[in-house]
Amino acid sequence: MTGNGRVIAVDGPAAAGKGTLARRLAEALDYAHLDTGLLYRAIGLALLRAGADPAEEAAAVAAAERLETLDLGDPELRQDHVAAAATKLAVFPAVRDQLLRFQRDFAARPPGGKKGAVIEGRDIGTVVLPDAPCKLFLTASLEVRAERRLKELRERGVESIRSSRILKEMRERDARDQNRAVAPLRPAEGAVTIDTTELDADAAFEAAMNIIRSQRPFLDKG
Ligand code: DC
Repeated sequence: MTGNGRVIAVDGPAAAGKGTLARRLAEALDYAHLDTGLLYRAIGLALLRAGADPAEEAAAVAAAERLETLDLGDPELRQDHVAAAATKLAVFPAVRDQLLRFQRDFAARPPGGKKGAVIEGRDIGTVVLPDAPCKLFLTASLEVRAERRLKELRERGVESIRSSRILKEMRERDARDQNRAVAPLRPAEGAVTIDTTELDADAAFEAAMNIIRSQRPFLDKG
């Protein structure tokens, strides 16, 4: 068993709505929340700041070994150049192995005395916590995800970015995440897919809660 039993795995591509959904679920259930993308981003940012190449394996593994010392609350982690670095170093098995323990510990012993955890990422249901009793796979069309990303950037005051560039970068990131040899992005066995192309955040939350309620006996077993 890789968790305490009360774990909701939320996987899916960038801008499918995982973050908003996972936060809301954690709040509603009083579970702890972990955005595992931040772990990969923190390693990417540490490398960029050190002037190292995130596509260079030895440097990436060394940075992953220092994960505990990295600040997961740094606002720069949200920026796109950091996401691009994260997706490059995420291909290395030794980096991913290094992060496994942190993620499994979080699930087994959720911080703050919480009784369960909502963990979001790309490979939570497939690799990190294959025993998770509830697995959700969030997806949406590439165009809608790129549009959401553009809106988010504009809200943050970034005006200079073109939608064609966002679409291109997102397509490249999807391809890298889906086609890498280790832990590629795909729905886990037993995962329920929620397509948010035509759902807003409230509707996605309702859909997820209905799935969780139907699986409640498994979640309560913990
Ligand atoms: O979810 P995000 O955009 O913050 O993730 C950034 C990158 O990190 C993503 O492109 C791939 C990688 N990642 C991963 O490989 N596995 C995870 N569980 C989470 C993120």
